[in-house]
Amino acid sequence: MATQAAGITNETVHLLPQTRQLRALHTIIRDRNCDLERFVTTSGRIIRQLVETALDLLPFEPYGVQTPVGQTYHGLRPVKPICGVPVVRAGESMEHELRAMSPGVRIGKILIQRDKVTKLPRLYYSALPADIDRHSVLLLDPMLATGGTALAAIEVLLAHGVAEDDIVFVSLLSAPEGIDAVHARHPNLRIVTSAIEERLNENAYMIPGIGDFGDRYFGTDVPR
Ligand code: PRP
Ligand code: URA
Repeated sequence: MATQAAGITNETVHLLPQTRQLRALHTIIRDRNCDLERFVTTSGRIIRQLVETALDLLPFEPYGVQTPVGQTYHGLRPVKPICGVPVVRAGESMEHELRAMSPGVRIGKILIQRDKVTKLPRLYYSALPADIDRHSVLLLDPMLATGGTALAAIEVLLAHGVAEDDIVFVSLLSAPEGIDAVHARHPNLRIVTSAIEERLNENAYMIPGIGDFGDRYFGTDVPR
């Protein structure tokens, strides 16, 4: 994988342009002393950039509209309706931003939790639109670590008839190990991310990383 500061790393991994502004936002949320409110608002700003980038990867078709001055604007519109699928719980941070950007978007849910000891994913529940196979799907999970959760979520979508080409996985931080694991099984699956980390530590957390994103976003890491 050849990383480029300009933005796209290769055809399947789309790394946001590593601008100074993006790095400043990362600096805020990676700081262990960042408070809950700042963590939510700042990660939200990065997530919106990720969602815009992911939306741009979907297929578009020509679509003209009449402007108020009687002219035609030869524009574009998405070919397929969009469905956001957050992996509960941390993915719901991304659902929140997607719905704020596009209130009419359809949402499916997949509940997967990583076992605290083995780090293996366990699928508990999914609720997806019956016609999800006719949608472009944004699979939303801010953390791609070992890739186990992403692979389990992708299997759920494929089992519901979604084509691999219609899935874009959106993550805020990605480990090389997770990207490789996803692409070992799904070489063409597109991933949008705002940072590629150095590696995983012995507890399968990314380094330099951000800690447990779900705990930090929902405030469940605060000691009593
Ligand atoms: C975290 C994270 C991802 C998963 C990534 O979820 O939100 O879903 O781990 O790890 P992996 O790539 O090694 O599978 P967790 O199970 O901790 O649940 P949470 O969303 O409730 O924090
Ligand atoms: N889940 C997280 O929240 N953070 C990591 O670094 C890995 C998995």
